[in-house]
Order: sequence, then C-alpha cells, then structure tokens
Amino acid sequence: MIAMSEALEIVPYGKLGAEVRGVSLERVTPRQVAAIEEALNAHDVIIFRNQSLTNDAFLDFSRRFGDLDLPPNEGVGLKAPPEHPHIFIVSNVVDSKGEPIGALGSGECVWHTDGSYKAPPLGASLLYALEVPRTGGDTSFSSMKAALQSLPSELLDRVKGLDVKHDAAYDSAGNLRHGITASDDPRESPGVWHPLIIEHPVTGIPGLYFSRRRNAYLRGLDLEESERLLDDIWSHIESAVYRHQWLPKDLVMWDNRSVMHRREAFDPTVRRVMHRTQIRGTLSPRRALL
Ligand SMILES: [Fe+2]
Repeated sequence: MIAMSEALEIVPYGKLGAEVRGVSLERVTPRQVAAIEEALNAHDVIIFRNQSLTNDAFLDFSRRFGDLDLPPNEGVGLKAPPEHPHIFIVSNVVDSKGEPIGALGSGECVWHTDGSYKAPPLGASLLYALEVPRTGGDTSFSSMKAALQSLPSELLDRVKGLDVKHDAAYDSAGNLRHGITASDDPRESPGVWHPLIIEHPVTGIPGLYFSRRRNAYLRGLDLEESERLLDDIWSHIESAVYRHQWLPKDLVMWDNRSVMHRREAFDPTVRRVMHRTQIRGTLSPRRALL
C-alpha cells in the first residue's frame, strides 16, 4: 500500500499520453519510480509539469530507469555540457563565437524513433524544457500500437514477417552524422535491421517499429515494392497522436519502443534550450507473432 504522501495522480490525455501529478522529481521514492514505470508502460508518453531540476538532479532521476547512453552522433552542434556528458543539449542557441550550443537547430524534426539505429536500441528518452518559445516547437508523439491496429488486413498480411532498416546516416533534422558516407540508396545506406512489428519487451503488446522514413527499406524486397509498401504503412502512422505544447520546466518521458515523435519548426530568433537523457536498451526488440 502506497502512503498518501507517495501517491501519484495519473491523468490520461486521451488515446496517448498521461500527466503525472503529485511528485517532485528531485526526490522520488522507489515506490514512486515503480508507479512512474507503470504509467509509462500504460500510456507510452508521460508528462510532468513544473519540475525544478539541476543537471545532477535530472541525471539522478533518469538513472532510476536504467543505464544512460551518451548523446547521439549529431551532424551539427555541441552535444553535452562539459561536466555532464550524458546530457544531450537540444537547442537553436549559438554562443558568442556563433557556434551552436546544442543540436537540431530550429527546423522541423521529422517523425523518428530515438536511437533505434543502434543494437540494442534505446529504451526511453527524457526531455526537459529549460527555455521554450511561447509558440512553435511542439513535439508530437504517435502510438505505434494504434498504427499497427489501423493497418488494413491485406497490408498487414503482406508485411507482418518483414524486417525494416532503421537509417543510421541522418539525424532527425536531416544532417549527415559525423563519419558517415552519404548514400541515398536505402539498400546500401548504413542502418540496423529490426522486425517491422515488435512485441513490447515489458507489456508484450505488439506495435509497428519504425524510425525515419528516409532510407527505410524492407529487407529482401525490390526497392520499388519496398517503397510502395512503406508509403502505404506510413499513411497510417498518425492514427493516435498526442501533441505537446511546451512550458518551461516540463519534463516529458516516452518509450521509443511504442511511440515515434516529431518536432515542429519554430522562430529561429527565439531561444529554445532543452536537455535530454536516453536510457540504454538491454535487449533487441522481438518480432511479434500475430
Ligand atoms: Fe528525437
């Protein structure tokens, strides 16, 4: 039984996402961590409002959910604060020398999954808002469970045993990652194979498992057939979407095995500074047997 002082309030937002209230992330108890994990597994995206976290407190909270990965290999922008190598800075701000203090600029970041081009791929990501514009830069999340359920049966039958390549060449802002030779032939570009339909490692619920549409490829098919099927599947990926309009001190946590996300562009003259941490995956996702 959870003591009243430890009880969390979970407020679902609809088909996807829930706000978690009644907790200060600076000091969470083991029972609260378990309740937060349960909420994440139930809702795929969870939102905490008005959290005041130092870099150390953000890292401490993130580590309650597993080992942290280092920031991704981004094409442009400093990755981490010097004293905190596991924090990934996402920002359009430039320093006095004109160098970006973080990655991903102010443009759109297309639908993607964080760190799925690794083996094993990342688990959850946590994104904490330090400075955000009044409008623009919203982050949307799409349920891959709902996307799978919305596939027509003929399309599902055609693709359910296939593997898909998760591109490792470009970041979500479209920048080529360091040390990668560009190839825009999806058959030849670098990436990692995963089953197209996976079983969630905790809940066992099946869902599509995708990352960027660019350079995706269905293993073993003619390129034309792969492109046609991927376009068909892609037309269903926005079946259940939650769009987050950021306020300073929001912390949003999502499970990369059950949602994709995208960011809208925003005014490049307005500052936006976010910190992200990324939980290492421990297993590669298993194919769902439908
Ligand atoms: Fe991302």
